[in-house]
Amino acid sequence: MPHSSLCIGLSLAATWLSAGGWRHPASRVEEVHGPDFYAGVARRAEAACLDFVFRPDALFIDVPALEHGPGFSSLDPTLLLAALARDTSRIGLVTTAATSFNPPYVVARQIQSLDRISAGRAGWNIVTALDGAWNFGSAPMSTSAEAYRKASEFTEVVRALWRSFPQEAVLADRRTGRYADTSCIHAIGHEGEHFCVRGPLNVPARAGGRIPLFQAGASDAGRDFAARVADAVFAATPDIACGTQLRQDLRRRAAACGRSPGAVRVLPGLSLYLGASRAQARELYETTHAGQDSARKLNYASQALGLDLAQLAPDQPITPAMLGEPPAGARSPTHVELLRRLVVRERPSLNDLLSRPEAAGSAHWIVVGTVDDAFDEIIERIGAEAADGFIALPGGAPQSLDLLLDELVPRLVEAGRFRRGYTAETFAENMGIA
Ligand SMILES: Cc1cc2nc3c(=O)[nH]c(=O)nc-3n(C[C@H](O)[C@H](O)[C@H](O)COP(=O)(O)O)c2cc1C
Repeated sequence: MPHSSLCIGLSLAATWLSAGGWRHPASRVEEVHGPDFYAGVARRAEAACLDFVFRPDALFIDVPALEHGPGFSSLDPTLLLAALARDTSRIGLVTTAATSFNPPYVVARQIQSLDRISAGRAGWNIVTALDGAWNFGSAPMSTSAEAYRKASEFTEVVRALWRSFPQEAVLADRRTGRYADTSCIHAIGHEGEHFCVRGPLNVPARAGGRIPLFQAGASDAGRDFAARVADAVFAATPDIACGTQLRQDLRRRAAACGRSPGAVRVLPGLSLYLGASRAQARELYETTHAGQDSARKLNYASQALGLDLAQLAPDQPITPAMLGEPPAGARSPTHVELLRRLVVRERPSLNDLLSRPEAAGSAHWIVVGTVDDAFDEIIERIGAEAADGFIALPGGAPQSLDLLLDELVPRLVEAGRFRRGYTAETFAENMGIA
C-alpha cells in the first residue's frame, strides 16, 4: 500500500508562467531572476506544510525558445535554494545537479553546504542531464545507459564524501586547544572509471544528517539506478496505468537490491490547470496553449515516432504499424517511449496527438478542472497504487497555484491524506526516512 500520508512537493520552476502564462498581467515575470518571487511561493508552500519545494535545472539555454518565454533561463538552483533557506524553516529544499558534467567534489560540497545552511532540509535531484555537453568541452552527450553508469559512480563518490567528515569529528575544545578529532576524518581514495577523488570533503556533515535523493528518468538504466539509490523519483506518468506499472516495477527492483519495496516513492509531476468551474479551467488551459509552436512539436514527434508526420492528414489515425525505429541518442528515452506508447494504446489522429503533452516531450499527468476534480483524480491514483504523492506543477496563471495551496491541499488534509503540521525538523524526518 502507498505510505499513509502523501508526499507533496511543489516545482519552483514557475510552471504557471510557461507557454503563454507569463503574459498574464499578474504573472510577475519581471521578477523570475531574483529571490523574492520564489521566497513568497516557498513560504506559502511551507504554510501548507508541503514536504518540499523543488528546483529543476538545465546547464544550457535554448535561445530560439527565449523569443516566446523565459524557459530554462534560471538562477543556479542550489544558490537560489540557499537564499530560500533563510526565508523558510521547515520545508525541504530539493536542488538539481547533473552528474554528466559537474565534478562530484563540488556538488558534494554545495549540497552539504545547503544542508547546513538550511539546518537539514536539503535534497538532491540527481539528473544525468537532458543536454548541454557543448558547455563542458567537446565530447558529445553519452547514451542514456552510459550516462547512468557515470551517475552511479558520481553518486557513490558524493555519498562517500558526505561521510568522510562527520560533525562528531569537530570538538572545538577551547580548553585543550583541540579543534577536531582527525581520526574520524577519512580520505575516500576513490579511483574509478570516471573519477579519481581522494577526499575528504572540507565541510562537515550535520550530525545524523541524511540528505534525501531524488531521481528523474525512467529508462531501464534509470530505473535500476533509482532502485539502488533514490528515496523518490520525479516521474512522467501521463495515465494511471503508466504510474501503476512504474511503481510496481520500482518496488520490485528496490526489493531486488535488498531495499524495502516502498523505499522509492513515486512522485509524478502533476500539471494543474485549476479554475472555479471546469469551463474556466478549460479556458485557462486553452489560452495558455493557444499559438504554441506547432512546427516544433511536429518535428519532435516525427523524430520520436520515426515517421514523417507532415505527410499525414490531420484526421488520419496513426497506428503502431506506421512507427519507425526510435531515434538513437534521444535526449530523454523516457519521453520518446511515452509518446510511442500513446500511439500503441490509442491510435490517435495527428490532430489528437499534437494536442497531447506527450507530443511536446512533457508527458506529465494533467488535471484541467476544479479543485474537486483534482482531489478525485489524486484519490483515484493513490487507490490504483500509481503514486505515493506528487510534484505539483501549477499551470497557466497564479490562480492554479492559489487553488492548489489554499483549497486542494487543505482538502487532502481534511480527508486525512496529508499532514496537518510538520512533526520534525529535518526534511528526511518529515519524509519518514531518517
Ligand atoms: C520527469 C523528468 C524530469 C527531469 N528533470 C530534469 C532536470 O531538471 N534537469 C535535467 O538536466 N534533466 C532532467 N531530466 C532528464 C533525466 O535526468 C535524464 O537525463 C533523461 O531523462 C535520460 O534518462 P532516461 O533515459 O532514463 O529517460 C528529467 C527527466 C524526467 C523524466
